Amino acid sequence: MTRVALAGLGYWGPNLARNFDELADLGWLCDASPDALERFAARYPRAQTTTDFDELLADGELDAVVVATPAATHYELAKRALEAGKHVLVEKPPAMNAGEAEDLVATAESAGRVLMPGHLLLYHPAVQKLKALIDAGELGDVLCVYSNRQNLGRIRTDENALWSLGVHDLSVILYLLDEEPSEVWAHGNSFLTPGVEDVVFCYLRFPSGKIAHMHLSWLDPHKMRKLTVVGKEKMVVFDDMELERKVTIYEKAPWQPTETYGEWQTRTGDISSPKIPSDEPLRLECRHFLSLVTGEGDATRVAQDGLAVVRVLEQLQASLVAAPA
Ligand SMILES: NC(=O)c1ccc[n+]([C@@H]2O[C@H](COP(=O)([O-])OP(=O)(O)OC[C@H]3O[C@@H](n4cnc5c(N)ncnc54)[C@H](O)[C@@H]3O)[C@@H](O)[C@H]2O)c1
Repeated sequence: MTRVALAGLGYWGPNLARNFDELADLGWLCDASPDALERFAARYPRAQTTTDFDELLADGELDAVVVATPAATHYELAKRALEAGKHVLVEKPPAMNAGEAEDLVATAESAGRVLMPGHLLLYHPAVQKLKALIDAGELGDVLCVYSNRQNLGRIRTDENALWSLGVHDLSVILYLLDEEPSEVWAHGNSFLTPGVEDVVFCYLRFPSGKIAHMHLSWLDPHKMRKLTVVGKEKMVVFDDMELERKVTIYEKAPWQPTETYGEWQTRTGDISSPKIPSDEPLRLECRHFLSLVTGEGDATRVAQDGLAVVRVLEQLQASLVAAPA
């Protein structure tokens, strides 16, 4: 059984602890805070606890390290773990700039170890459904994609809405469209914490001509977790706030009847909701990581996809900083 260590027991880490305790041998819990360790030591009595990351890296029986500490620490911890010969699942984003993300990918490659960023939404069965619809040509040519990730809170002061929220939508948009944008811009403003943008609007144009938009904000009256894909034949919406109808397919499209000599008309047909499995995306993500560790699947692709997300985030960030507020 794969022996796993988890670093970071704040808000998100406990979800990873629960899953890896059930799916693997959770051998170590690490947090800089002794209080956090004490809280979880009782729940996972078989796991050793430490505030010292080097102590778990020294465990020769340890196969993999899961990093769920604040984003600014990801690069350093992931790099040290890879250099110690461990496979790494690192929470998103794996690094705060493309240079560091490239370095992680190269380190993983030369060590022959898995580097998987925790892009949770890629494991959401609804996103898998969208991908299947697009790849099967059900929607016709995809024209544009836009996402809404808004709420009032959780207000972060260490990373902006682009890096904290946008990383999710960006990972999905790049996955669905299977290309990297040739042009990006982002506009936003820091209303609460200087230098930390709370509201960000992003635009992306792809070499194929497809376009995408992301609205990212923790200063908003609506809680929205929505992604809309507009195809030339059908349109589809993934709404993660819906309990049952996570995916809705609209048979709505423009068309040009021959008798109207090139004039556009629209047609509206059925609206349907396919059944989406209710599997926990994080459970699927953890399973995927464990299967990569045992040599199944394409570990290189997973690491490269994570790098692409950081590369585009970095370009959007440069545009955000350069844009007039
Ligand atoms: N995939 C998702 O949906 C999702 C959701 C929430 C958070 N996250 C990600 O998870 C990561 C953690 O977020 P969070 O909200 O849990 O943060 P948090 O601040 O609540 O928790 C971070 C924990 O890491 C510990 N820590 C800090 N530096 C450390 C170090 N060097 N070594 C060991 N422990 C250290 C802190 O003591 C704290 O307990 C972030 O990267 C965040 O983006 C992902």
